Amino acid sequence: MTATLATDPQAATAHPYWLLEQLRQDWPDHWPALIAANNARPPLALRINQQRLDREHYQSWLAQTGRLAAAVPEVPTALILDEPTEVTTLPGFADGWLSVQDAAAQLAAPLLELQAGHRVLDACAAPGGKTGHLLELEPKLDLIALDRDAGRLEQARDNLRRLQLTARLVAGDACRPADWWDGLPYDRILVDAPCSATGVIRRHPDIKLRRRDRDIAGLAAQQLAILASLWPLLRPGGRLLYATCSVLRRENEGVIAAFLEGHPDARERPILATWGHALPHGRQLLPGEANMDGFYYADLCKQAVISGI
Ligand SMILES: C[S@@+](CC[C@H](N)C(=O)[O-])C[C@H]1O[C@@H](n2cnc3c(N)ncnc32)[C@H](O)[C@@H]1O
Repeated sequence: MTATLATDPQAATAHPYWLLEQLRQDWPDHWPALIAANNARPPLALRINQQRLDREHYQSWLAQTGRLAAAVPEVPTALILDEPTEVTTLPGFADGWLSVQDAAAQLAAPLLELQAGHRVLDACAAPGGKTGHLLELEPKLDLIALDRDAGRLEQARDNLRRLQLTARLVAGDACRPADWWDGLPYDRILVDAPCSATGVIRRHPDIKLRRRDRDIAGLAAQQLAILASLWPLLRPGGRLLYATCSVLRRENEGVIAAFLEGHPDARERPILATWGHALPHGRQLLPGEANMDGFYYADLCKQAVISGI
């Protein structure tokens, strides 16, 4: 019995067959490390609100209260606590000095290269983790945080209140802009798409039980539909950042390849970084790498239309 368990890949890795096969296929050189990371305990990562204080300042505050935290070199706002703790007991939590957010998720906002006055759509915003970061980076945004789940949007409201930041929160479907769009184009759009969440299994191991292979094609179709619906809302020269916490190629570079094929006015900007893996389209972090969750990013720019050509 013990021998059977040890040789049965599903039992030995605590991953379902379909996912093991998919990870092997998508990441032939990385899947053993990926699976080990999925089964390891995740760190507690903090995002320090740079409107209030810098990371080094907060790190020394923590040290004075007897807590040690390490800076994440790739992410200027991220600290990882040596010992997980109840975050509400951390100095400044109630006053919005910090948020709990994995370092990989903290890569999103800086990739948008925001400027004061930008009109920004955070299209799948709840519970507002990245919305808060966008405003911490550039408080003078005209920011709409959209989500189709009104209940989760309330969590975004609470988070922003604690951070003392404001955005217009809109309950609506990204695939139905006619229901909520005011007709003015956006300079930046963030699509933090609904996905399989296979990059955050170490935080939510139940994903291994709840997800099925057959879900993935449906998720990819949904992701593509969101991108296609929002693209007309971006101004020429504007940028759309597509993000998922998936490690599956069908939801990531597969979606971006299909999108680019159907949108000749879309160009991909390569993400040059010290983290993750450059893919034919987009850039992928795998779970555990640089102590981060698994995340995918693709940076798209809308070409200005040149008439007469
Ligand atoms: C990955 S979560 C977003 C996490 C969030 N950006 C953050 O950083 O806290 C994806 C969100 O997309 C929302 N969503 C899914 N389909 C949507 C749609 N068609 N239109 C708007 N929101 C949608 C879900 O309700 C969910 O809150």
